Amino acid sequence: MIHAVERPQAHTPTHCTAEQYAEMYRASVETPDAFWLEQAQRLDWVKAPTKGGEWSYDPVGISWFADGQLNLCHNAVDRHLPQHADRTALIFEPDDPASPGRSLTYGQLHTEVVRMANALKKLGVKRGDRVTLYLPMILEGVTAMLACARLGAVHSVVFGGFSPEALAGRIEDCGSRFVITADEGLRGGKHVPLKANVDAALALTAHATPVDGVLVIRHTGGAIAMQEGRDHWLEDLASDDDCPCEVMGAEDPLFILYTSGSTGKPKGVLHTTGGYGVWTATTFHYIFDYQPGEVFWCTADIGWVTGHSYVVYGPLFNAATAVVFEGVPNYPDHGRFWDVVDKHQVNIIYTAPTAIRALMREGDHHVTCRSRASLRLLGSVGEPINPEAWRWYFDTVGEGRCPIIDTWWQTETGGCMITTLPGAHDMKPGSAGLPFFGIRPELVDSEGGVLDGAAEGNLCITHSWPGQARTIYGDHERFGQTYFSTYAGKYFTGDGCKRDADGYYWITGRVDDVINVSGHRMGTAEVESALVLHPKVAEAAVVGYPHDIKGQGIYCYVTLKAGEDGSDALLAELKAHVRKEIGPIATPDIIHFTDGLPKTRSGKIMRRILRKIAENDFGALGDTSTLADPSLVERLIEGRQNA
Ligand code: WTA
Repeated sequence: MIHAVERPQAHTPTHCTAEQYAEMYRASVETPDAFWLEQAQRLDWVKAPTKGGEWSYDPVGISWFADGQLNLCHNAVDRHLPQHADRTALIFEPDDPASPGRSLTYGQLHTEVVRMANALKKLGVKRGDRVTLYLPMILEGVTAMLACARLGAVHSVVFGGFSPEALAGRIEDCGSRFVITADEGLRGGKHVPLKANVDAALALTAHATPVDGVLVIRHTGGAIAMQEGRDHWLEDLASDDDCPCEVMGAEDPLFILYTSGSTGKPKGVLHTTGGYGVWTATTFHYIFDYQPGEVFWCTADIGWVTGHSYVVYGPLFNAATAVVFEGVPNYPDHGRFWDVVDKHQVNIIYTAPTAIRALMREGDHHVTCRSRASLRLLGSVGEPINPEAWRWYFDTVGEGRCPIIDTWWQTETGGCMITTLPGAHDMKPGSAGLPFFGIRPELVDSEGGVLDGAAEGNLCITHSWPGQARTIYGDHERFGQTYFSTYAGKYFTGDGCKRDADGYYWITGRVDDVINVSGHRMGTAEVESALVLHPKVAEAAVVGYPHDIKGQGIYCYVTLKAGEDGSDALLAELKAHVRKEIGPIATPDIIHFTDGLPKTRSGKIMRRILRKIAENDFGALGDTSTLADPSLVERLIEGRQNA
């Protein structure tokens, strides 16, 4: 058993003590509507809501604050102007530390958002339209999201590391007719051809969805092609004309964000306005314990939900100062994070275990030669943090002064769900901790039996919370199927989890066919579909396996068509092929050519066996007697040892 860590002495709890947490948690589950209607007052409403949660998980229908009206751009920007127009809202730290940075006060952010919103209007964007954003981590990424919210348009941000094929699929799925992009992105000194990728994606979608307009931001100045009539530079369309915020209903959609699931193509998770707004505003306030004047830095890209909720909405609702970082942790060297911390006097950093592990491997000197004296709180998100990395983050980065919050949540949950509160609770390395207000976790066994006390099972949430996703865009039936049908009447997270005797939750990882690679969700089915598109591939089965830095790596079993050889050249070709189909984050780590896949006599692939072999765990293969060809297992084990 791992022992609790003492609360660091330097941290004085301000927003919430352990006693207050206990009292508020009790209220949040006993009288949720009263609790959340009170928290809703963190936002400015055009019409204050009188209704709390109205929801059912069978049939699935979820609404919060249904009769309220508001605009989230107003809440992130305009409402701060009377008091905080001169406060810094965003600090831009470019990829190259020698390039000039830039920051925006709330007053300047307002000007930029209005200019962007007017440009979108000229492009033809109207309330309810879907707008696809394919951008680097620059200030315009934030202003573009806020400009959409201002006009009542629904943003769909696609991570700039996705391929043209992946981008095209996401444009088509939501019927988006507008794209916002930049000439190029920069990451670790490398140029990312964003506009060229958009051109390639639009060539793929041309027949299904002719796009009306592309708004292009000049960032690197790199040469790109502009298509007459379709493509426009931001500076040519932007204007300072008055641009009022649209009045939105609480349940009007705010954004779609694609995420991977167990099966099929990525799902467009849909979040709405009021509930998401209240959830991100409230979680940011309590979990990051933000104090006015502090500098907050979430290192996530706006292409992921963490960037949506804690680079953009959560901090800005709280009139915070947030860092927008274009670069990567290891450029120009492995001390970049701590340089940024010192340069901008960052007080709170929120990053992923994969980055912590990668930096830990490079040695302490990259950390200790920087001051880091401004740091007060350390956050972790995206995957389980192993106790060794936790210790290093706590002892070396934080010098034992800074509490760690390990926040468990998902694209579908809108914001943090399980975490300790800094200063209020003891921390246990590797455990996310306790449920946030209103969250009622339940552990169930594979038959759906509810497990009490200290136990291990599948993690479900029994009651709705304001930040919950409302549907999968265009496919409400799949929403019900995916999340609410495994255990009737409960939201099933897809994660395995332990609860200890103190009521702390320990996430053990996905129990479905989703893998978590460097904190990015990847559906094994997506990688399989990409592999079988290659003309030489007959069949593919993809599983995760433990990886020192990435958490999980991508392990691909591939059978080839008759007459093809598993050469090193083909191996490299297949890796490049998957990168092209999905993007670099999906690059296979191991490709294992095999003459067959283990199947039952009825033809079902036995993934359990493939997982165990990929994990090098040959002793626990279980019953292989139902296999159509039992001798295959021996050959697969041999192949694993050579892979
Ligand atoms: C995993 C990211 C352990 C989990 C916010 C979840 C975590 C998936 C943690 C969601 C954590 C996220 N500890 N596992 N603190 N945070 N996960 O949608 O498997 O990109 O289901 O959202 O990441 O990934 P997503």
